[in-house]
Amino acid sequence: MRALFKKPLATYLVGILLVVFATGLVLYQVVENILILGSVMLTQFIILTLFLLHLYERYIRPIKKATRTIDEIVKGNYRARFHHPSNDTIGILSAKINSLARNVGEFSRHEKMQSEQLSTVIDNTQSGLILIDSKGYIHFVNRKFINIFGGVPKDYKGHLYYDILDNEIIHETVQKTFLYEKNVKEAFTHYKGIDKIYLEIVGAPIFNEKGMLKGAVLVIYDITEMKKLELMRKDFVANVSHELKTPITSIKGFAETLLDGTIDDKEASKEFLAIIYNESDRLQLLIEDLLVLSRLEKEDFQLVLSEIDLNQMVGEVALLMRHKIDEKQLSLSVQISDGATIKADKERLKQVIINLIDNAINYTPIDGQIWVNGIETEDEVIIEVKDTGIGIAKEALPRIFERFYRVDKARSRNTGGTGLGLAIVKHIVEVHKGDIRISSELNKGTTISVAFRKELD
Ligand SMILES: Nc1ncnc2c1ncn2[C@@H]1O[C@H](COP(=O)(O)OP(=O)(O)OP(=O)(O)O)[C@@H](O)[C@H]1O
Ligand SMILES: [Mg+2]
Repeated sequence: MRALFKKPLATYLVGILLVVFATGLVLYQVVENILILGSVMLTQFIILTLFLLHLYERYIRPIKKATRTIDEIVKGNYRARFHHPSNDTIGILSAKINSLARNVGEFSRHEKMQSEQLSTVIDNTQSGLILIDSKGYIHFVNRKFINIFGGVPKDYKGHLYYDILDNEIIHETVQKTFLYEKNVKEAFTHYKGIDKIYLEIVGAPIFNEKGMLKGAVLVIYDITEMKKLELMRKDFVANVSHELKTPITSIKGFAETLLDGTIDDKEASKEFLAIIYNESDRLQLLIEDLLVLSRLEKEDFQLVLSEIDLNQMVGEVALLMRHKIDEKQLSLSVQISDGATIKADKERLKQVIINLIDNAINYTPIDGQIWVNGIETEDEVIIEVKDTGIGIAKEALPRIFERFYRVDKARSRNTGGTGLGLAIVKHIVEVHKGDIRISSELNKGTTISVAFRKELD
């Protein structure tokens, strides 16, 4: 039947001629008049040809067109349409084919959109993803995976995981996932250039509808930040304990000596009590600093902002520190333009200025010079504390804002320092969305500037 529709019109015409010719041969036995015979055959030929043309136009040609349209749809051209404006069977067929093309087109657009959305999500997820089939061939890696392990997707796709991934833990995870057919979790470190990163890998098996293992998906999480925080917390606890231990040991030791009888020796008791007093003072300062930091770190920490007269504020701090400055025979000069103001939390700003001047005093030898300058730019007010002190070595500069970091531990402890001063300064400036700048030269001096934005949003 299909072959019938495929034949060209000429073939049917040849067929008709053959039929007419055969009819002529049969009629020739009974009709001897050639003229009659000829007209009968001609009439038959015309009738058959007209019938054939009717059939061809009405059915064969539209069905051929319908077949071509369906071929186009099969090839993926969902815009292909078949127009046959009539109410007969072919007309209905054309309407159905067009509606099928529309529906398939719609469906394919929807599918494409969904798969694009899915691949966007997978590619932009913050975890590395890799899909492996049950034979160990890699089928897919996402952008984060490439970001961690380098290369381009085609370096991985189609390769066996153990040929291309040089990492024992990943191999083990895949093997265990396939062996136990359940989620497997491991952790490892990896070098991304020179940076050491901490990764956690979870292997999850994938099953087909019959419950047979089809492959595995590996999800790789970058847990470096978390690890760093964990290390910082451990360091912090160790540092705090250490800082508390020294004065407490000293207080306990001298108290014991007093109890053991030294209390009767008036001179010695006075000396020991002074030590106990100083050490407890140190403890109090440390605990106060820790409390300041913890308050600043609280999620719901709120700044109490007001317009502060900078000259007045620095004047107050200078008065507070006058005794210490004079003791070391230092000279302090303040240069702040009249009427300069800063929008900040008054108490916190005071703490910043105290801590910076305190450092300048502590780390500047006798007869040194300290300057406090107020500089106003278009969008910032900068407080600059400059000294002619011992300076800070280049390699120590990036660390001085860390908690408990002291360039020279012994020296700093002598001045009563715990190494929290600049950590507090940094925190306060950060909560004001400000900036800290530092420049220093060994044995020449240090300049630390804190810049506060005029407009706080
Ligand atoms: N002006 C400065 N000149 C030289 N070194 C400085 C100066 N300011 C800070 N430092 C160095 O930076 C370290 C950290 O300073 P920070 O103020 O945080 O702690 P600290 O002064 O030791 O103790 P604290 O301020 O908590 O009493 C100091 O120990 C010191 O080595
Ligand atoms: Mg300090």
